[in-house]
Amino acid sequence: MLEMRDVSTSYGKVKMLHRVSLDVREGEAICLLGSNGAGKSTTIKTILGLIKPDSGTVTFLGERIDGIKTHSIIRKGVSIVPEGRRLFPKMSVEQNLRIGIYSDMDESVLESMRNHIFTLFPVLKERKNQSAGTLSGGEQAMLSISRALMQRPKLMILDEPSFGLAPILVEEFYETILQIKKQGTTILLSEQNAGKALAIADRGYVLQKGMIVAEGQKQELLKSEIVRKAYLGE
Ligand SMILES: Nc1ncnc2c1ncn2[C@@H]1O[C@H](COP(=O)(O)OP(=O)(O)O)[C@@H](O)[C@H]1O
Ligand SMILES: [Mg+2]
Repeated sequence: MLEMRDVSTSYGKVKMLHRVSLDVREGEAICLLGSNGAGKSTTIKTILGLIKPDSGTVTFLGERIDGIKTHSIIRKGVSIVPEGRRLFPKMSVEQNLRIGIYSDMDESVLESMRNHIFTLFPVLKERKNQSAGTLSGGEQAMLSISRALMQRPKLMILDEPSFGLAPILVEEFYETILQIKKQGTTILLSEQNAGKALAIADRGYVLQKGMIVAEGQKQELLKSEIVRKAYLGE
């Protein structure tokens, strides 16, 4: 579904990603592991066309998307749950949900997505007229995912979605991501916490200093020295 091949990206003269290659196949949940500053967000921004790679290719559903505009990439079926959630705190839950959907989206489709989201997260229905800034951390995380879901993505990219959540909420939150996957959305998830991400992922990649240093199926990664030492605190 999504392929990155030998993608290198720089900030000014500083090279950040070094020939990153990764694949996300339809129906999978893939995690991109790495500590702070490893290049996870840079990889995601490159996929979304927010940064243009120096070299390499990004393909989505068989079409090159490197070099095209972010809104066109989103329109092809990629949606993002950004780092730090980026909600509009003064706007209501309902208004936040309507941001980012296409202006030509059919009203009946919109209504059915809204119902779907309120079934998935009943608390958002209760709070639909409340401003987003007054929600708890966990509720804001749900809203951020819901906003991405409103676009009915084929691929949902989540950049450290559990960051800052109370540990007891993280597990429940990951359960929701798993549910979204089961309902047919392909997932690419960045995380610092390998244990949590690998619990729901099929496969993963490990980034260090802008390079992929390990990759494999969940079981292989859980056994790998790199992951155990750097990300599972062993
Ligand atoms: N806009 C930017 N300009 C210059 N350097 C940046 C910029 N954004 C990120 N970086 C640097 O690139 C590196 C990777 O950052 P990032 O992709 O955000 O890592 P991660 O998401 O894994 O924490 C870091 O060293 C960071 O300081
Ligand atoms: Mg980041």
